[in-house]
Amino acid sequence: MPILFHEKTKQFHLHNGDISYIFCIMPNDQLGHLYYGKKIRDQEDFSHLLELGFRDMSPCVFEGNAKFSLEQVKQEISVYGAGDLRSCGLHILQEDGSQTVCLEYMAHEIVPGKPLLEGLPATYVEDESEAQTLRVFLIDKWLDCQVELQYTLYNSLPVLTRNIKISNSGKQTIRLEAAMSMSLDLPDKDYEMIDLTGAWGRERHIQTHPLHYGIQSTYSLRGHSSHNYNPFIGLKRKETTEFLGEVLGFSLVYSGNFLAQVEADTYDVTRVMMGIHPNGFSWSLSSGEAFQTPEAVMVYSDQGMNKMSQTFHELYRTRLVRGIWRDRTRPILINNWEATYMDFDEDKILGIARSAADVGIELFVLDDGWFGKRNSDTTSLGDWYPNPDKLPSGISGLARKITDMGLKFGLWFEPEMISKESDLYRKHSDWILSVPYRAMSPGRNQYVLDLTKPEVIDYLDESLSKVLSEADISYVKWDMNRSMSEVFSAGKESGVQGKVYHQYILGLYELYERLTGKFPEVLFESCASGGGRFDPGMLYFCPQGWISDDTDAIERLKIQYGTSMVYPLASMGSHVSAVPNHQTHRSAALATRGDVAYFGTFGYELDLNLLSGAEEARVREQIEFMKKHRELIHKGIFYRLASPFDGNITAWMVLSKDKNRAIVGYYRTLVQVNGGYKRLKLAGLDADKKYRISDIAGERSCYGDEWMEIGILLNDSTSGDYHSKVPKGDFLSRLFLLEAE
Ligand code: DGJ
Repeated sequence: MPILFHEKTKQFHLHNGDISYIFCIMPNDQLGHLYYGKKIRDQEDFSHLLELGFRDMSPCVFEGNAKFSLEQVKQEISVYGAGDLRSCGLHILQEDGSQTVCLEYMAHEIVPGKPLLEGLPATYVEDESEAQTLRVFLIDKWLDCQVELQYTLYNSLPVLTRNIKISNSGKQTIRLEAAMSMSLDLPDKDYEMIDLTGAWGRERHIQTHPLHYGIQSTYSLRGHSSHNYNPFIGLKRKETTEFLGEVLGFSLVYSGNFLAQVEADTYDVTRVMMGIHPNGFSWSLSSGEAFQTPEAVMVYSDQGMNKMSQTFHELYRTRLVRGIWRDRTRPILINNWEATYMDFDEDKILGIARSAADVGIELFVLDDGWFGKRNSDTTSLGDWYPNPDKLPSGISGLARKITDMGLKFGLWFEPEMISKESDLYRKHSDWILSVPYRAMSPGRNQYVLDLTKPEVIDYLDESLSKVLSEADISYVKWDMNRSMSEVFSAGKESGVQGKVYHQYILGLYELYERLTGKFPEVLFESCASGGGRFDPGMLYFCPQGWISDDTDAIERLKIQYGTSMVYPLASMGSHVSAVPNHQTHRSAALATRGDVAYFGTFGYELDLNLLSGAEEARVREQIEFMKKHRELIHKGIFYRLASPFDGNITAWMVLSKDKNRAIVGYYRTLVQVNGGYKRLKLAGLDADKKYRISDIAGERSCYGDEWMEIGILLNDSTSGDYHSKVPKGDFLSRLFLLEAE
């Protein structure tokens, strides 16, 4: 039984082959946290881990017992108002102005499997035997408010998921000022925090820093999870590397405002909290109402960061992504955005599609500019019907012509937005998130529709469904190109305005649920000005996402490397684009551009008709290569080998689960003159198997131990063998294929 309750000591022990998570009902009936980490043997009593102790000034729970203070004990749920003086995850304002809450144990149950979270994306099980769930019910007796803590432990992964639900059974209306999905108190502060930071065009760069006393956090208040930060943090030991040591990963299955906060208190206890950002959030709960938080996912690794990422990849690829595209081979696509921007007509599109079909591409995606009067970003969002000047046979006619070429057809939408210059605005200017008496802030000349209104969801459902059912559409790119401001839902009373940010996300999820339910064969790809909403919440609906508008291969090394911290390769939209690159003006070789893009979903974003004969031949080879290896790339085990954040070299590899095949990507940014030899050590191989490695320079066979302990010998500086076939110069890449003999 992976989840145990010891009646006598009132302790819960959640454990599987990898992890243990232990907490108890304390003498005051509240929950105290005892241990989270590598699996330990079960025993009846872990109460010595409660660590009570006298501290001056601390408010205490019992008179005459100066050792039991909520400020000191590690909590299972941190609640504002009584004696816990740290930053807390649950904060409830009551009618009389009191903010004190005391949650006592009431009951618990252990159930097989994993319940769904109503209205919210979450990881799931396919069979009840895959996981067990513990539901602990707490009550504030004065308020008659119940809080359910839910924990799901997967049997064969080092994963524990958490969420909480607050139900108001009392008479008064209460107001949640903070309702975080999880909080966890760890017994020391000897960690480094890892988070993913960036901006448009340079998303998810890895940042690592030692914890200091006080609060450190990562967050979004933009209404979407953002380019700037990602709903993920890791806590690693100083000595932890990609391959060795302990790291705790925390990820939130949510697409809106979030806070992931770490507080190291001055007694060296580290509190981790994750959930909806309390700023801009204030949720009233009348009698009989309940609030469900999003899910937080905790991953434990004692084998370095690669192992943490591999666990996230496996969980998210197989138990978060849903639908037929979860396991189906992903199509190699071509997208016309960087080839034409909005300047196209049917002939131009058909010209690109024709050459795409000819080189073996499988899906043509028509991007922005096909609808209303959309020739620039000042107009037409909301008017989801084709522009007859550009597309005389409409979307259905165009789709037919493209599918007749043997390609699938995909289409871009930006459902959540409206342009002032649109029929929709002329009819429904009141459908915008805005404060009626204040100026609205434009972003990319557009405004955000109020997805808290059911009539807006219905309109979007109907207009998108119409296009999707009238034409043969196999793929949708769902874009979102501005952050939110003036977040206010006109016509609603003041008391519910603090719900709008979250209700927007619930509305978005409902719209996604309806459309993915109605069109189960369609592959949805999420996008937000590139990777501005690349998060686990989106993965639940969209098996893949566009990770960045920056398509430069060298920039992509960092973006893909950082994104891989949490997200599987099969989720990362990656395309080969033209040179000079439109974002950086850099010209990397076509081979390098392909070698980077292979480690994602793979596609093209350029006009194939402008390529030379040699380039076209190279594109054909790339497509053939990807078709041959995409199952391995998308479903294999990914290892980061050398970080672009540490220097000139980036390397990674994907290994098949049976350890018989692997592909290694090696990238050297700038050339060094007359440099030394380098060795690239591989990982994860079977030491006793012989592997043949081949690349452009030739073949060689060695046992796995040699490839892992000594590595591949490289010399890519500009001296030495001038006649070698290995390319030299800046922005070099090499791919190595491993095959067990
Ligand atoms: C932003 C996306 O990231 C791009 O790929 C493209 O679809 C444009 N929007 C279209 O407006």
